[in-house]
This record gives sequence, C-alpha cells and structure tokens, in this order.
Amino acid sequence: MIAAYSATSQARVNAALETLFTAPGPELARLYEAMRYSVMNGGKRVRPLLAYAACEALGGKPEQANGAACAVELIHAYSLVHDDLPAMDDDDLRRGQPTTHKKFDEACAILAGDGLQSLAFSALLDPRLSASDAEIRLQMVSALALAAGPAGMVGGQAIDLGSVGLKLDQKALEYMHRHKTGALIEVSVKLGALASGRAEKDELKSLQTYAQAIGLAFQVQDDILDVESDTATLGKRQGADIARDKPTYPALLGLDAAKAYALELRDQALHALRPFDAAAEPLRDLARYIVDRRS
Ligand code: IPE
Ligand code: IPE
Ligand code: MG
Ligand code: MG
Ligand code: MG
Repeated sequence: MIAAYSATSQARVNAALETLFTAPGPELARLYEAMRYSVMNGGKRVRPLLAYAACEALGGKPEQANGAACAVELIHAYSLVHDDLPAMDDDDLRRGQPTTHKKFDEACAILAGDGLQSLAFSALLDPRLSASDAEIRLQMVSALALAAGPAGMVGGQAIDLGSVGLKLDQKALEYMHRHKTGALIEVSVKLGALASGRAEKDELKSLQTYAQAIGLAFQVQDDILDVESDTATLGKRQGADIARDKPTYPALLGLDAAKAYALELRDQALHALRPFDAAAEPLRDLARYIVDRRS
C-alpha cells in the first residue's frame, strides 16, 4: 500500500517540481541547473507525501496540495544543500550523487540553496499549483516561514552545529531534533491539511500531535540509520555523525533504547489519528514507514 501510494505521490510532486527550474536567460543557466540538480535527484519525498496524505485525510483531493508539496520539498532540498557544505556537515555524497557544492562549487551551492528557499514561497503562491483562497494561502506562508526559519529548522541547525562534541541531555537533544527536522515535517502536514480547504481547529490539533511525534521519530530513525545502515543504501555517508561526534539518540540512549523510542513515537502518532476514518490510512502508513525505513 505505502509503495503504491509513494510511487503515485512521488510522480505527482516530481511533475509539479519539474515546472519550476526554467532559467529566465542563459546567464542564469548554471544557477538553475544547480537548483534542479539539488531537487530532482531522487529523495524519498516524505514531506510531500505527508502533505498529500493530510489533505486526503480531510477529504481533499491530493492535487489541491501540489503547491504545499512542492514548497516543503524545496525548503528541504535547500536545507540539505546547505547542511552538506564544508562549513556545516561537510558531506560529499547525497542521494547517491555528489553533493551540490562538489558537483558545482560552494558559492553556487549557497546561492542554489538561497534560491530554492525563495522558490518554495513562490510555489505556495503559484496559481498553477493550487487554487487555495487568499486567506488560506496567507496562513500557509506564515506557517512555512515560521517552520523554516530561526524559530524552526534554521534554529535547529544552529543548535546542531553548536553542539558538536558536546554531551546534550535528552531534553536538549529533543529540542534540537524537533527544530531541525520536526518543524518542517510538522508544517508539511499542516500545509496539506490547510490545502484541503476543510481543516477544522480540532482536526488541525490532532494532526499537529501526529506530526510532532513523527517529526521527532524521523530524526531518531535518521540517527539510527547513521549507525546501522550502509552508505550504498543510504545514498549518504554512513557513520558521518559518529565521525563528527554529533549528539544523536543512539549516542545518548544506546541503539536499542533509541529504537524503542522511535516505536513509542510512532504509536503516539497513530493514537492521535484515532478520530479520523479510513481516509487517514496513508498518514497511518507513513507513520509506520518512518520508523521501518532502511534509508
Ligand atoms: C534527510 O532527510 C535529512 C533529515 C532531515 C534527517 P530525508 O531522509 O528525508 O532525505 P531525502 O529527501 O530522502 O534524501
Ligand atoms: C539534517 O540533519 C537536518 C536538516 C538538513 C535541516 P542531518 O545532518 O542529520 O541530515 P543528514 O544525515 O545529513 O541527511
Ligand atoms: Mg546536519
Ligand atoms: Mg548532515
Ligand atoms: Mg543525519
């Protein structure tokens, strides 16, 4: 079920994303090529899948969430381009290919990331991608800005980079993970729900509880895979956290306790979806997938 849902949703978001990388002139061909390279290079598309699934859980059609799906993937791609830079995690491999600064150069990667961030907000407002009314679009832009910015993902990345070699306690580690990864996953669900045009306050609250749990679970699993997967499967360097002495859940709790925690978070997420009917099945499958995945 999740495999078929993923394939359909990935094709949908990839088709929408493909429309966004036409350079306005030859002098910008390289910048646009670098942006396209950073986005259209595989990737599981988990955040777009969550946006589509949240839209459907509320009775919307997935296509209504195309703008939201593109926006969250563009922010995600930008965060990865910058995360891989020498000044940050200094990684050479991403999605099985050279990182953007390796394929192009550092300045180009920084600008490609900057460009992708702006494109995300354009995508959210693009009438070709979705038809939400102005009030809903405003809520979406505001939520995405908050989640991507210093109170969200960027803040989490700042804490991450400031914590290398330090021993964070569980509270501090959770705070970091909820920001650097959780915030964008949480807003993916929220934007998808808003795109349905049918989101009620109590439904948004339940979806938020779901999204917060899987957002944290996603990074706990990412930390686990850094320990026990391999570079070919991951498409990024296995053991990179250990090599850089990054604070992670397996480092803090041990591998078994980290795995148990990921499962506990999955169950919290499933519990939050109890008020929803069968239309929320893709969201339930995604919660299971996030902790079962091998890459
Ligand atoms: C990796 O994200 C970075 C984290 C936030 C943990 P993903 O595991 O979603 O990466 P892709 O998009 O599939 O490459
Ligand atoms: C990345 O976390 C989080 C963001 C890019 C916001 P990681 O540094 O753990 O991601 P990977 O392991 O390089 O994909
Ligand atoms: Mg990092
Ligand atoms: Mg990294
Ligand atoms: Mg990681």
